[in-house]
Amino acid sequence: MSTTSDLFFVIFLLLPYLVSSSSPNILFIVADDYGWNDVGFRNPDVITPNIDKLAHSGMILQSSYVMPVCTPSRNSFMSGHYAFKSGLQHLAILPEQATCSPLNYTFLPQKLKELGYTTHAIGKWHLGFCKWECTPTYRGFDTFYGYYNGQEDYYKLSVVGGKDFRDNKTPVNATGEYSAHMYARRAQSIIMNHDMSKPMYMYLPFQSVHEPLQVPAQYSAMYPNVKTQSRKTYLGMVTAMDEAIGNITNTLKAKGMFNDTLIIFTADNGGWTTFAGNNYPLRGGKATVFEGGTRATAFITGAGIQKTNSVYNGIIHAVDWMPTVLSAAGGTPDPNLDGIDQWDSLRTGGESKRTEFVYNIDDLKPEVCGHAAIRMGDYKLIDGYPGLYQGWYKPDEVVKDNYNDAPVNATLPFVDKMMLFNLKEDPNEHVDLSKKLPDVVLKLKSRLDYYHKLIVPANFPSNSKSAAPKNYGGFWTPGWC
Ligand SMILES: *[C@@H]1O[C@H](CO)[C@@H](O)[C@H](O)[C@H]1NC(C)=O
Ligand SMILES: *[C@@H]1O[C@H](CO)[C@@H](O)[C@H](O)[C@H]1NC(C)=O
Ligand SMILES: *[C@@H]1O[C@H](CO)[C@@H](O)[C@H](O)[C@H]1NC(C)=O
Ligand SMILES: *[C@@H]1O[C@H](CO)[C@@H](O)[C@H](O)[C@H]1NC(C)=O
Ligand SMILES: *[C@@H]1O[C@H](CO)[C@@H](O)[C@H](O)[C@H]1NC(C)=O
Repeated sequence: MSTTSDLFFVIFLLLPYLVSSSSPNILFIVADDYGWNDVGFRNPDVITPNIDKLAHSGMILQSSYVMPVCTPSRNSFMSGHYAFKSGLQHLAILPEQATCSPLNYTFLPQKLKELGYTTHAIGKWHLGFCKWECTPTYRGFDTFYGYYNGQEDYYKLSVVGGKDFRDNKTPVNATGEYSAHMYARRAQSIIMNHDMSKPMYMYLPFQSVHEPLQVPAQYSAMYPNVKTQSRKTYLGMVTAMDEAIGNITNTLKAKGMFNDTLIIFTADNGGWTTFAGNNYPLRGGKATVFEGGTRATAFITGAGIQKTNSVYNGIIHAVDWMPTVLSAAGGTPDPNLDGIDQWDSLRTGGESKRTEFVYNIDDLKPEVCGHAAIRMGDYKLIDGYPGLYQGWYKPDEVVKDNYNDAPVNATLPFVDKMMLFNLKEDPNEHVDLSKKLPDVVLKLKSRLDYYHKLIVPANFPSNSKSAAPKNYGGFWTPGWC
C-alpha cells in the first residue's frame, strides 16, 4: 500500500461508501391538515407510537412554520420560494383552475437527481395539473402514485365528480382500499426494490388527515373515551397514518436502509377545526395566520442528526426545506431562494439562521381571507383580517364556522387593525400589544411593506369548463391549459 495508485484504488473501492455517507436516503413526510395538538408526543390522548418514537430519536421542531393552507406550503417545500412571490398566496389550487406552481421553478427532486438520487412521490400533489408539465413525473420525480387535487374520498379516490388517482401517468380505478394502506404498501415496495448503490428521496405527502372524515372502524374504535364522533374518526385517521409510518420504517430497517435515512416530518398547515383537527393551546387553525394555522407539528431524525431526544426551538420555515434537504444531500442550494439552508443548524442542534419570516401576504378578496403577517425576532404583527378561526378550541369542541361559508363582512372589524404579539412571552397570542408598543408595530409594518412590494399578484383564475373529467374518461386529467 505504498504507491499513489494503490491509494487511489482504495479510494475507488471506498467510493460507494463515501458517497452514501454524504448522500443519505431522505424520507420527507407531510401530514395534511394535521393539528398541533394531534400527536402523542404532545397530547397523551392521541395514539401515535411510531411518530413519537421517531420524534424522540431525533429533534421535535418546536418552531417550524408553514403556510396557512396546502398549496402554498407544498410550493415552498418543493421550490424554496414564498407563495406570495409565486402567485399562490390566495387559498389553494381548485380542481378546475388552469394554473400550477410556476414552471420556471426548479423543484427539489430535480436537484436531487443531479446528485444521483432516485426520486419518488406518493400521495397528494396539489401543485396544479392542467398540463403534464405541471405534474410530478415532469417535475423531478421518477415515480408518482397518488392524486393531483387537494382532497378526495379516501376509498373512492374521487372528488367533485371526477376520479383522481394515478400510477405515474396512468389512471387507476379505486378498489375500495383505504388510501393510507395503499400509500404504505407502495412506499414499502419501492424501498424493497431500491437499488442501494443510489441514494433515495421519497416524498410522502399523505392524504391523511384532511377531511372527509373517513377511517376503517378499527382505528376510530381505539378512542372510546373521545366524546364527539368527528374527533373519534379524526384521531382514528391519525392512528392509521401512524401505523403506515411504522410499516414503512420497519421496511427501511428490513432492507438495511434505516440507519442511512434522514427523516423529516411536517404538517402542511394547522388542524382544520371544523373537521376535528385541534391546535390547542395555540390560537386559530387552518387558513388563519394565527399560530394554530401556521406552526407545524414537525420533527427531524436519522442520518446526520446529532441530537437525540431533544426539542429544537430555532425558527424553521417551509421555504427552508428545499435548500436544507438539498444541502443534507450534499448539494449546493441556490442563494437567491427565499429559503435558508438550515442543515448545519439542524444537524448539530445549533442556532437557527432565521430570525424573520412572512406568514403570508394575500390581498385578493380580503372580505373572505385576505391577510398579512410577519415575524421579526420575538414579535409578530398581523395586519388586517387573521382568518375565520380566531379562538382557542379544546379538542372535543365542535367548531361550526365553515370556512366555505365565511360570513360576508367578517373582515370589517379588522380593517386598518393591527395586532402585535410577543411570541416568546405569549406563544398562544392572548395579549395584543399593538397599543402599548406602537414603535414595534411601525418597525414590523415597514418591513411588511417592503415585502409587499415584492408580491406577485395572486394567480387565482376562474373555473375552466374544459377541465371537466367527463372529457377525459371520468378522471381529472392534464391537457386543458
Ligand atoms: C419565473 O418567471 C417569472 C415571470 O417571468 C419571473 O418573474 C421570475 O423571476 C422567474 N423565477 C425564476 C426563479 O426563474
Ligand atoms: C375503470 O373502470 C371502468 C369501469 O368502471 C373501466 O371502463 C375502465 O377501463 C377502468 N379504467 C382503468 C384505468 O382501469
Ligand atoms: C401495516 O402492516 C400490517 C402488517 O402487515 C398490516 O396488517 C396493516 O394493515 C398495515 N397498515 C398500514 C396502514 O399500512
Ligand atoms: C443501526 O443503528 C443502531 C443504533 O445505533 C444499531 O444498533 C444497529 O446495529 C444499526 N444497524 C445497522 C444495520 O447498521
Ligand atoms: C357588508 O358591509 C357593507 C358596508 O358596511 C354593507 O353595506 C353590507 O350590507 C354588508 N353586507 C352584509 C351581508 O352584511
